[in-house]
Formats: sequence, C-alpha cells, structure tokens
Amino acid sequence: MILVTGATGTVGREVVRQLVEAGRPVRALTRDPAAAAAVLGDGVEFVAGDLGRPETLPAAVAGADSVFLLSGGGPETPLHDANLGQAAAEAGVGHVVKLSIIGAEYEFTDLVSTWHLAGERALRQIGARPGGPAWTFLRPGEFTSNARLWAGPVKAKGTVFWSQVDTPVAVVDPRDVAAVAVTTLLEPGHQGQTYRFGGPEPLTVRERVAKLGAALGRELTVVDVPIAAARDAAAKSGRQPLVVETTLGNLTREEFQVHAVKVLPTFEKLVGRPPLTFDQWVADHIEIFR
Ligand SMILES: NC(=O)c1ccc[n+]([C@@H]2O[C@H](COP(=O)([O-])OP(=O)(O)OC[C@H]3O[C@@H](n4cnc5c(N)ncnc54)[C@H](OP(=O)(O)O)[C@@H]3O)[C@@H](O)[C@H]2O)c1
Repeated sequence: MILVTGATGTVGREVVRQLVEAGRPVRALTRDPAAAAAVLGDGVEFVAGDLGRPETLPAAVAGADSVFLLSGGGPETPLHDANLGQAAAEAGVGHVVKLSIIGAEYEFTDLVSTWHLAGERALRQIGARPGGPAWTFLRPGEFTSNARLWAGPVKAKGTVFWSQVDTPVAVVDPRDVAAVAVTTLLEPGHQGQTYRFGGPEPLTVRERVAKLGAALGRELTVVDVPIAAARDAAAKSGRQPLVVETTLGNLTREEFQVHAVKVLPTFEKLVGRPPLTFDQWVADHIEIFR
C-alpha cells in the first residue's frame, strides 16, 4: 500500500493516476474525502487526514509500505513534513518520498526553499533514528502549470502580467514530477537520494507566452511587473508578500539563473523517456485559456 498525500492537487492526482495504472494499491490522504472521491474516482482508498493534525495521521499510514509526501510549500511545511515522518516512523513505513524544490539543492534564501529544506532536515533526522523511514527528496524546478495563473488575463485582455520575464527556466511538467515520484516509489535503490530535475528546454516567460499565443492563434502581450509591485499586489489580495518578494527576488540572482537554465539528464535517466515539452503542456491545457 502506498499513501499519497496532496492527492487532490496538481502533482498528487497524477501520482495517484500513475500508481493505479501501474496496478498498485493506493490510499489518498485528503482533508475532504467526499470532494476527493469526485476528483480521483474509483480504484483508490481514501483517508481523512490533515498534515497539521498529527492525531489524524496514524490511520493514514497504518499498513503503508511507502508514502508520497507533498506539503504545501508554506510556512507550515517543516512541521507537516515532521508530523508525517514521525507517524511513518511509528507505523514502520519503510520509505518517504518528499516533493521538495530546486532551491533546497542550492540552499536558496527564498522562503519556500527555506521551508522545504527545513522539512528535508526533519525527515533526515527522523530517518536516522532506529526504525525511521528512508527518504528520497525530489527537487524539481518551476512547473509548466504555473502558466494556469495566466488564464484569466489572457482570456480577458490577451495579456500576461508577470515578473522576471526574460529569465530562462527549464520548466517541468507536473506529470513528469509525478513520474519521478512513481519511479522512486516503485523501484528499489532510491532511498537516501536527492534528485534535481527539470524540463527539456530553457524558456523565458516571453517565450512561453509566445508559444501559448501561437497555439491560441492570438498575439499575446507580456507586461513585466516590477518585483515591488508584485509584492504589493500580493499583500492587497491577501497572499503572503514576502513569499512573492523572496521567490521573485531569487530569480534575479546569478546563482538561480545559472542553475534554472540547465537541461539535466536526471529525468530521462530515472524515467527512461525525455521529459514533456512546454508545447505539450499547452496543447493538453489549451481550453483553460480560451
Ligand atoms: N509550482 C512550482 O513551480 C513548484 C516547483 C517546485 C516545487 N513545488 C512544490 O510543489 C508543491 C505543490 O504541489 P501542487 O501544485 O501539486 O499542490 P496543489 O495543487 O496546490 O495541491 C495541494 C494539495 O495539498 C493538500 N493539502 C493542503 N493542505 C493540507 C493539509 N493541511 N493536510 C493535508 N493535505 C493538505 C490538498 O489536499 P486536500 O485539499 O484534498 O486536503 C491538495 O491536494 C509545494 O510543496 C511546492 O513548493 C512547486
């Protein structure tokens, strides 16, 4: 039995789909099993649980051989990772595969990377105790699916408002993030490993928007939003301004630019096929932009 957390989200639902396709028994953790059943359908066991409520986790991990751990990337991430790691240790789970982030590889100072790195450290500590679960950390770069956030303005105004639009990043399809997770869960030999991986080609936001426009048959405009304006807009809309500021600020750093642009062999080595292209992601999601 494999427990999948974040099972109703972008990556997690793909992890569930690919595990079910591989014929593996899957238990999906969610805060709302009724809603999750509508998303994930048959062939999956559901368990109500919350990574922030440790008392809900023993039932989730009971009898599981391994866990896919997805915490939200917010300030609660280290605690949620530790809660799951502790429950897994107490239940004798053998292996936890945590979805982390590129910034954990290079100790970037943006808040999200900092939180993931703290989560990784908690899992290393728990794993080092007698009977603690082995860990694998997946450190992907930026997801292609962040382009979903462009859908509203593209539909309304044919415009994408974004920051750091000329920084090339080898964006990765979340279906490929799931494929790495499934490989490391099902194959032996990935315990104690960290994997940094990305997509097949570095693309700036301008280049990604041009590809989207070509697929839509429309010319789209890109507005390069200064980081301070993005931070202030986040604050006004109730999102965490420092997360936005430090994430975008990270994109301006030479170290990020050196690493994010790299096309790495890791994905193909692990999964045995080339990673999906941004064009493929656009083709498969074009309806949300119409
Ligand atoms: N976007 C990027 O470019 C990027 C790049 C690298 C890494 N990442 C990392 O990827 C992760 C986000 O993945 P995603 O986009 O697939 O997430 P998502 O679509 O936002 O889904 C979040 C999932 O987390 C679950 N969840 C939220 N709070 C929970 C809680 N307290 N207890 C248990 N489950 C909870 C939700 O399940 P229910 O609502 O069903 O409970 C949902 O399934 C973050 O850790 C982020 O840092 C993102």
